[in-house]
Amino acid sequence: QQSAVPPTSSAPSADGVWTHLRPVAALWSADVPVPEGALACVVVQGGAVQWVGPQAQVPAAFAGLPRFDGKGAITTPGLVDCHTHLVYGGQRANEFAMRLAGATYEEVAKAGGGIVSSVRATREAGEDELFALAAPRLQALLAEGVCAIEIKSGYGLALEHERKQLRVARRLGEAFGVTVRTTFLGAHALPPEYAGKPGGSQDYTDLVCNEMLPALAAEGLVNAVDVFCERIAFTLAETEQVFQAARKLGIPVKLHAEQLSDMGGSALAARYGALSCDHIEHLSADGIAAMKAAGTVAVLLPGAYYTLRDTHLPPIAALRAAGVPMAVSTDHNPGTSPALSLLLMANMACTLFRLTVPEALAGITTHAARALGLQSTHGLIASGRSANFVLWPVGEAAELAYWLGQKPTCTIVRQGRIHGV
Ligand code: NIG
Ligand code: FE
Repeated sequence: QQSAVPPTSSAPSADGVWTHLRPVAALWSADVPVPEGALACVVVQGGAVQWVGPQAQVPAAFAGLPRFDGKGAITTPGLVDCHTHLVYGGQRANEFAMRLAGATYEEVAKAGGGIVSSVRATREAGEDELFALAAPRLQALLAEGVCAIEIKSGYGLALEHERKQLRVARRLGEAFGVTVRTTFLGAHALPPEYAGKPGGSQDYTDLVCNEMLPALAAEGLVNAVDVFCERIAFTLAETEQVFQAARKLGIPVKLHAEQLSDMGGSALAARYGALSCDHIEHLSADGIAAMKAAGTVAVLLPGAYYTLRDTHLPPIAALRAAGVPMAVSTDHNPGTSPALSLLLMANMACTLFRLTVPEALAGITTHAARALGLQSTHGLIASGRSANFVLWPVGEAAELAYWLGQKPTCTIVRQGRIHGV
């Protein structure tokens, strides 16, 4: 059963000339410069952007296309949620209550909760059930303009269950007509059958590297490989072992790095040319320099920071000074960030982390695309890209990061089709 999802292939085509759009600086790259304050046009043909520029100069070749009047709407590229754990069974409201009673994330994990409690629920669920659970989560993100999303495994921690998560992620992308990038996060936590055993962590890391990753990669299910490098998860040496296995298969890496402590994971990841290092509250100056040199994106996850009532801020000023691109994501997961609004994350990145509004907007578009290796297709309104953009019912771009829980009714062009009103 495919669950009750409307086929997105029936959404109307966006092919045509989109007129009267208000560009957002830095998120548009026009073929012919658009004068400051002027309205602009985007031409879509065959599901891709063919031309971007001022209204008055649309090339004659496109004159016969249908026209869509943007009525002056502020228009951004489709949003990109570059770090999620969207596919899982169960939920963890009980841990929310435990933390309210004073327990820390690490204490909850050590008490048998945390990631492994989601592992139990995910292993019990079948593929169709996981799909049905994840679909409404995805729909909430899509309704707010998300056009590309990363979905990690990491709640299966055994080949068949990791496969199940990644297959569901891919099915979601097909059913909803959204770009899904799948990340294998087999090294997320020690599965219960290895926990407490001497050498268990090394044995499981070997399994991840020698069996799980090669099998899933051979099935074409892995776009990137991630590890949770932390005191309560995997060591630096185990992380490097996983990175080596990924390198052997030619798959790019990313890392859950320096969330609770400075493990030096970011510098290691940068040495492996990582797409991104994520969380990074405890990132050091060395880590920043290594990321800058490697072109690695810093992914900020204010939802997890907020939920865990963290007080150790990521080094934003130093990242900014070094010129490391900063992305912002939901980190949607049932434990530390049950968040389903990327705009709310943009708000929290500004309010909690002191990003500027333009930084936050680039963080949920251009830089997020780069964190997924999608910089040539997503995250910017420009010719040659797939047609992914959003017309917002707001008076100025800053409103996208300003409202708390506004849920704006926007017109969304995703994969060349029109969604929303
Ligand atoms: O990104 N930090 C590790 N992984 C997730 C949390 C997963 C969980 O608690 O279920 C994160 O925050
Ligand atoms: Fe995460």
